[in-house]
Amino acid sequence: MSNPRIATFFITSSTLLWACSLATTVTYDSNAIVINGERKIIMSGAIHYPRSTSQMWPYLIQNAQDGGLDAIETYIFWDIHEPVRRQYDFSGDLDFIKFLKNVQEAGLYVVLRIGPYVCAEWNYGGFPMWLHNLPGIQLRTDNAVFKEEMQIFTTKIVNMCKEAGLFAPQGGPIIFAQIENEYGDVIEKYGEAGNSYIKWCAQMAVSQNIGVPWIMCKHVNAPSPMINTCNGYYCDDFEPNNPKFPKMFTENWVGWFQKWGERKPHRTAEDVAFSVARFFQRGGVFQNYYMYHGGTNFGRTAGGPYIITAYDYDAPLDEYGNLNQPKWGHLKDLHEALKKGEKILTNGSVSEKKYGNSIYLTTYANNATRERFCFLSNSDDSKDAQVDLQNDGKYNVPAWSVSILQDCNKEVFNTAKVNAQTNIYVKKQAKNGNLLNWNWIEESMDDTLKGQGTFKAPKLLEQKGVTLDSSDYLWYMTEVIINETSSWENATLQVNTTGHVLHAYVNGQYIGGQWGTYDNLNFTYQKPIALRQGTNVISLLSGTVGFANYGAFFDMKDEGIVGGPVKLIGSNLNNTLDLSTYSWSYKVGLNGETRRFFDPKLINGVQWKKNNVPNGRPMTWYMTNFETPEGTDSMVLDLKGLGKGQGWVNGKSIGRYWPTMVAEKTGCSDTCDYKGNYGPEQCESGCGEPSQRFYHVPRSFLNQKSNTLILFEEMGGNPFNVSIQTIALGPICGTTNLERTLELNCQGGKTISEIQFASYGDPQGNCGSFKKGGWESSDSMTVVEGACIGKQSCSINVTSSTFKITKGETNGRLAVQLLCDGSNPNDARVQKVKA
Ligand code: GAL
Repeated sequence: MSNPRIATFFITSSTLLWACSLATTVTYDSNAIVINGERKIIMSGAIHYPRSTSQMWPYLIQNAQDGGLDAIETYIFWDIHEPVRRQYDFSGDLDFIKFLKNVQEAGLYVVLRIGPYVCAEWNYGGFPMWLHNLPGIQLRTDNAVFKEEMQIFTTKIVNMCKEAGLFAPQGGPIIFAQIENEYGDVIEKYGEAGNSYIKWCAQMAVSQNIGVPWIMCKHVNAPSPMINTCNGYYCDDFEPNNPKFPKMFTENWVGWFQKWGERKPHRTAEDVAFSVARFFQRGGVFQNYYMYHGGTNFGRTAGGPYIITAYDYDAPLDEYGNLNQPKWGHLKDLHEALKKGEKILTNGSVSEKKYGNSIYLTTYANNATRERFCFLSNSDDSKDAQVDLQNDGKYNVPAWSVSILQDCNKEVFNTAKVNAQTNIYVKKQAKNGNLLNWNWIEESMDDTLKGQGTFKAPKLLEQKGVTLDSSDYLWYMTEVIINETSSWENATLQVNTTGHVLHAYVNGQYIGGQWGTYDNLNFTYQKPIALRQGTNVISLLSGTVGFANYGAFFDMKDEGIVGGPVKLIGSNLNNTLDLSTYSWSYKVGLNGETRRFFDPKLINGVQWKKNNVPNGRPMTWYMTNFETPEGTDSMVLDLKGLGKGQGWVNGKSIGRYWPTMVAEKTGCSDTCDYKGNYGPEQCESGCGEPSQRFYHVPRSFLNQKSNTLILFEEMGGNPFNVSIQTIALGPICGTTNLERTLELNCQGGKTISEIQFASYGDPQGNCGSFKKGGWESSDSMTVVEGACIGKQSCSINVTSSTFKITKGETNGRLAVQLLCDGSNPNDARVQKVKA
């Protein structure tokens, strides 16, 4: 069906010869994304390639495709590709072209968010730190130095994609690209320069001639032809700034990220589904989950400050890529239901009818074919509704839910009725995983404790300007000469810092440390000290925990002890020395970092000690060997007992660890109410637990048999509690009612070995804690065993005859919990790991 409102976006380019036969055209109108003339709604999900490994990509993409996605979205992370100006790295796990090709091979589209500012809880929002020191630069504004760098990098990425034939008109998978990111949030703070910058961004983007539309998320005044899009928990109210534009939801936050010291946020499958269904009910055309797979902030890539290493996000695929059920399955069911209406949604006319407070029936109808597709929503956050659609049937629409009605008379999905199974994953100790022999060596501080750095300045410098983020650590050292000791024997050292972590040494002795919090970055450290007559050496080690990634001028936020003041306060209060303008000596990084203690290839050059392995000693390096756990399950390190630091497996950084950052004891609940507007504090777990105790070690970091684990422990911790574990699929559960079918699937080629619970009746509890209720069908176990044991998946039809259900028992429910065992060598994941 032709639509006069289609805005053709195909830009012919003299510089490019599109591969004509394979060329894919991408256009749009307000009702559809039109790909090669086919009118579509698009389901997309974010997978950031550097938050997993190239070995994991095909598996993640496969799981996304199985979950019913049409497209994968990723940012491009400038800092990791250009760590040093004009020195690029696109190798190994940074090979984003390979990632995009993997997506293409799976037959999915790509949404490429080049940024190159990305936010994303990524260190410094993805900007390489060298930008910070370029003379005359101002980031994200109308500044010639910045714009030139941004254009060079953007062009480089675009050209790499063109060379690989990845844009749709070349036959490639990329159907949209993004420039900048949520600039609308900050534009006012940049004044007129912000306006001219964003116009320049648009022009620069268009001049790249990529042949697919550009988007600018969260930017109400995005200049045409940039499509402005919505990010948030709900976007049904959003309207693009041009009636010809498609309504696009570029970030549907499926959960939230976590900071050190915080509980783990969850967002229910029901509420995510509600948000998606409402969006399409109200004219949505494109929807992207942020994140579909969150993954891991390896190395020092976590943004911040204080963002933890795991970036699980409660996404449909968990940190390790396993299915987060029932979320993954519930959204898969939703996608299937929505796709049933794709033709009518993208071609039809729409009408809406109100059925009382908060209850709406939205009908999409194709007048030519007379086909219909309906959404029936109840956005009341407590009252369920019974809606009588007369000839089209009667429906029970629970509070805060949307029913999708095929042909407007058949409920194919309701966002609050979850049929998908629940998976519980369990941690298993790997063989010999707790029998680790530790070696150790102290971080040598002979130089810094004597105040010896590599350069001096008569002031307290800003940290990232000095380190350029080559390390988390910067030593600030000065000398104080005391002639008379009477008022200095009981003195106080006071350090005012902008964070993030401080350790203080006086005359070679550790006197203590302190750190701030995400909401309270600046802090004052005070400690009584005794100064001696003559020269006293003050050595302050300032540590950063990821640089800010969000907000106007985030890049200019001061870090470290910049400006101080650093003071010595004598016992007589009038006796205060402000050391801020003394001569300070500086040293970037740790000696162990410079000597690459973390690199197992250099292990013989380090005098690792076997005896008297210390427990609780700050500034200590630890080394051990461990066996590769058998099988293909994901591996994690349990680091409970350690303080704070960084870990490396076979020389690859698994990220920062900080298990002593424990979440508050209160604020968690066993059950999550999906009803009502979601906020990250609504539903949390992990009270009283370390924010992160387990650290992902991707299988591709491991050798065949034996591996080296090296830790740098900054605060002091106990290495003897460290253990190697794997994440195994534990019980699988599902529940359903009479006249429905319960489907359970082991996934990954495993077979069902044991039915732990089966009861049709009024079973109580949840997966992992089911209990028989007041009554049950005595055939429950036999029926379920017969249907499931020995199979990879099973369907159980809950009918009166199979379960011998009598008339009075028709309101029961079947609950099943089972175990899967054994792994099939033909499992895709096993093969990929082997390859
Ligand atoms: C958005 C941003 C994303 C990510 C998200 C929160 O504002 O565009 O990159 O930071 O917030 O996870």
